This record gives sequence, structure tokens and C-alpha cells, in this order.
Amino acid sequence: MIIAQITDLHVVAKNRLCYHRVPTNAQLAQSIAHINSLDPRPDAVIASGDLTDHGRPEEYDLLRETLSDLIPPVFVIPGNHDRRDVLLKAFASEDYMPPPDAPFVNYAIDRYPVRLIGLDTSVLERHHGMMCEERLRWLDATLSAQPDCPTLIFMHHPPFRTGVQWMDASGLHGGRMMEEIVRRHRQVVRVACGHIHRPIHVAWAGTIASTSPSTCHQVSLNLTGQNGFEFTMEPRAVQLHVWDDSYGLISHLSYVPAGYEEVAMLSSLTDEARAKLLAQNRREYQELCNSEYDR
Ligand SMILES: [Fe+2]
Ligand SMILES: [Fe+2]
Repeated sequence: MIIAQITDLHVVAKNRLCYHRVPTNAQLAQSIAHINSLDPRPDAVIASGDLTDHGRPEEYDLLRETLSDLIPPVFVIPGNHDRRDVLLKAFASEDYMPPPDAPFVNYAIDRYPVRLIGLDTSVLERHHGMMCEERLRWLDATLSAQPDCPTLIFMHHPPFRTGVQWMDASGLHGGRMMEEIVRRHRQVVRVACGHIHRPIHVAWAGTIASTSPSTCHQVSLNLTGQNGFEFTMEPRAVQLHVWDDSYGLISHLSYVPAGYEEVAMLSSLTDEARAKLLAQNRREYQELCNSEYDR
């Protein structure tokens, strides 16, 4: 079985650019064409949040239309840029999706050799994520129901500190408690996350936790904690989690072949515009650092 992971799609309204400069819609279409062209083709696709940029109905309409080009089935969960209620309505016809009034977009897919658990870490109108009591209980019970089936959990906010401080400041609350639960369930072969817009892997809770590159822009690798957040147009990729009965889950990055026209778009920013953007990012970072943070 091959599971393709796409993340941080940041779909915007038709004919718009994300952040006024990243063509996220066109980039998602390229990622979908890439997945469809793979041989062997993935059996399923998981989309680990930030599906849209603002959580607006028209963005979900376009997301659904674009995802309908995927040949394998796709399973989605929200990220901090999504709106849970709007997403639940937009995907109400999908058989795996909880009802539109569900408190969270949590579900398990039991039709493959690897069990897929979608976990909703989003918090309304906040950038950080949350594993609250209710979600922790649900995860524990869901894992307890199938203790012998290899299981991949996918979620938006990674439950570990990444060292990319700007992103850690909008990280997951309740990650330590989740760690205790996952450690007790030895069938968890991967915790696959998004949010960071970079590939990261770490030994965590007796398994491997990872983040995947975005289908659109990446976040620059800045481990100094200074200068805040910057986009980078490093190559976009899809993560391929390949299940092998002998070796377990083997994860590959499959780069999306595309032109680098976006680089020109970013470098077209004037020095003044770039300085303004960085100053704004620094302010937001400070606000996040000053907020309550329980990790
Ligand atoms: Fe994102
Ligand atoms: Fe995010």
C-alpha cells in the first residue's frame, strides 16, 4: 500500500494568489497531476490540513473541484487556516466524514492494510493547535479498538518541538499528553503532520513523527529564532508512505516537477516591501511568544 501525503495546500479563491504572490491553486493542480502520474500510483491520499487559506466556502468549493482530479481517494483534515464548520459542510457527502455538526473532524479509515486515523488539532480563529481532553479520549479509544493493525495518524500541528521557533510558537497544546497515549499503542507506525512547510523526522512516543513539505511555498529553515518567518520557494514535494509487510512503513519525498516561475514572483518584492513583511512577522511572533503556551 502507498499513501501519498499532501499538506498545506492553502487554496484561495479563483484567480487569486496566496499572500498576493504564491500561485497555490496552480501548484496544487501540479501536485495532483504528479500523484496521478506515479507508477505505481498511490492507493490513497491524505491531506494534512491548511487545505484552504481563509476557510471560506468558495475556497472549499474550488478545493473540492481541484481534488476531484485525483485518481486515488483523498481524506482531509483541517489546519489552522481552515474553518472546521465550513469544511464539514463542504465535504458532507464523503462517507468517511463526521456529520456537519460534529465537534471535530476525527475519523478512522479501516479499509486498507494500514489503518488511517485523521486527527483534528484545529482551534477556531487561532494558529496554535490543541489536543484537548475530548480529543485525547477519542484517540485513546480509537487506538484501543484496533490494537493489532498498523496505524498511521495524520494531523496538522506536529506534537513535537521542531526548532523552527516561529512555527513552534504556533504549535500544539497537549502534545505531551498525546505522547503518553501514543506510547501505549505500539501499532502506531507513523504520526504524519503538516503546518511547518518543511520535511522533519523525529523519534517520538516510541514511533516516528514527521512533517511534510507543502504543495505550495516552504518556510525557510531558520534555527536561530531571529528574523521571524520567511517564505522560500524550495522544491515542493509529496510524501509517499510505502507499507511493506517485512520492513514496515518507508517514507519517501517525491518532488513535484515544475518550473520555478514562483521564484521570480518572490524576488520581485522591493526591499521596502520585504522589510515591511519581516517587521510584521516579527510582531506576530512576539505576540505568539507572549501568549499562554503549555509545552
Ligand atoms: Fe500552512
Ligand atoms: Fe498551519
